[in-house]
Amino acid sequence: MAEAVTASNPTPRARVHAMKEYHPPLGCRDALRLDFNENTLACSPKVREVLGSISAGSLTRYPEREPVEAIVAAHLGVQAEQLALTNGVDEAIHVLFETFLEAGDELLLPVPTYTMYEVYSSATDARAVAVQAADDLQFPNERLLAAITPRTKIIAIANPNSPSGSVATRAQLLEIAKRAPHAVLLVDEAYFHFYGETVMDLVGTVQNLIVARTFSKAYGLAGLRLGLLAGPVEMMRWIRRVLSPYSVNSLALACLPPALEDTAYLDWYVGEVLAARTAFESALDAAGVRRWPSHANFILVDIGAQHAEFVKLMREAGVLVRDRSSDPGCDGRVRITIGTREQMKLTVAGLNAAVATLKLGRGKQ
Ligand SMILES: Cc1ncc(COP(=O)(O)O)c(C=O)c1O
Repeated sequence: MAEAVTASNPTPRARVHAMKEYHPPLGCRDALRLDFNENTLACSPKVREVLGSISAGSLTRYPEREPVEAIVAAHLGVQAEQLALTNGVDEAIHVLFETFLEAGDELLLPVPTYTMYEVYSSATDARAVAVQAADDLQFPNERLLAAITPRTKIIAIANPNSPSGSVATRAQLLEIAKRAPHAVLLVDEAYFHFYGETVMDLVGTVQNLIVARTFSKAYGLAGLRLGLLAGPVEMMRWIRRVLSPYSVNSLALACLPPALEDTAYLDWYVGEVLAARTAFESALDAAGVRRWPSHANFILVDIGAQHAEFVKLMREAGVLVRDRSSDPGCDGRVRITIGTREQMKLTVAGLNAAVATLKLGRGKQ
């Protein structure tokens, strides 16, 4: 008979012990989903065709990512060895941090920014150094440059940034890369398609630059979990040592080429969102709700003390929006994803009703 195990539970690493749990507010999302910056409609019909044609037999094989990496690399104008596909950009961030961050290192983060940088860095022995943006939430360029030290190992910049929608210019990014040659500059272009400017063309030329892209936003494939990192060959070799060889599954790999090929669908969706964003900006202005200029498929708005009630009223109106109050410098602010013009009509109706009920903006007495 096996002996009873009496030891206490194994303890995790001290850093893991200190980590906060992260629970994205999923669940009951049976409404208009303007809370995660997803595509609010669908992926390309060409992707759906490929999905429907996948055989049971093909699922018995381990996924082979290299041929698809070559296709994606050619599409982006980089070499295949400069690119790695990942299980979403989240895995890309995780693997990048695991590859480079160790005790004594600093991760520089302009904040507010994408939550997962902080989550994954807190699992490493490095220290996250937050560089707070001013009230206008513009990219804090001067403060970031001043925060670079010999210990800076990674500088992570979402461009456009979430939740602010602000951007760092190409000149600013180049200056940062130059002033921190000992650090990796991660430029996370998750929202590239809604902005149109990129530093992908500098991959391999700027020796410390790594660019991330996702297929979760404009392409509408968040459920498939597809992202990528592109950077100098040598850095990508280190990253590949840490990256799981099979983390991008075969369904996702099969769907990538048709997603890339259907540029007409992508252009249509992006055009629709940009038109809807302009219309929604006018609606916010008419309602007297303060907003921050956005280069992405979402807008951050200032609701103030009644932010939780606002989110609740919007949910009752059938629209999910995201309370960003706990982000640094974002008290009272709510982020609203932009969908199609038709979908935003429901959002404007919900917004106007909430503004009147809570006596916000022009509804103030
Ligand atoms: C800036 C940024 N990077 C990365 C991601 C996550 O991308 P993925 O779905 O590919 O993990 C998000 C998602 O909201 C994001 O806002």
